Amino acid sequence: MKLTLTVDYAEHEAEVEPRVLLADWLRSVGKTGVHVGCDTSSCGACTVLVDDAPVKACTMLAVQAGGTEVVTIHGLTPEHGVSAIQQAFADEHGLQCGFCTPGFIVSTVGLLRDSPDPTTTEIIEALEGNLCRCTGYTSILRAVQRAAVLSAGGEPPIEAGLAHETPLVRNKISSTAVFEDLSDTEVV
Ligand code: FES
Ligand code: FES
Repeated sequence: MKLTLTVDYAEHEAEVEPRVLLADWLRSVGKTGVHVGCDTSSCGACTVLVDDAPVKACTMLAVQAGGTEVVTIHGLTPEHGVSAIQQAFADEHGLQCGFCTPGFIVSTVGLLRDSPDPTTTEIIEALEGNLCRCTGYTSILRAVQRAAVLSAGGEPPIEAGLAHETPLVRNKISSTAVFEDLSDTEVV
């Protein structure tokens, strides 16, 4: 089927098989920051914005996204440096392996658009569809709180360290870190 949509502010037109998931199609056109962690709508690593709303891209067929504006972690990352939200995740150690991080950042963008100064309860509710196996969530909660402050133009001192200055962290929060695609690996 013919698919026409906008991905990260660029027009795309493609022939797509009806059964292809949006997450897989996005990865096939180079949006490898859309991580596929479960394929069963559980982990949130594949979260993207579809017409400004956070959506798990493994729950949607690519053809269902026809006519929409899709924004991935790639489109949320400035050409140089990182966004305020990405900076906040680095400052507060809101990541370890980084596999879940694009999904958390996309969900945070959606939250802060609707609620620029969210309560703790609002943050927890907004991120309940995103799973992290590493951090224990407390640092992610702090990261979102800091993201709200940075996004509002505040510049509180960095208390948690200078993790954002390491290339490794920068790669993880900007979608340039490469994770091996294990989706076709046989589990024995
Ligand atoms: S890969 Fe989409 S929710 Fe896990
Ligand atoms: S940082 Fe490893 S899964 Fe979240």
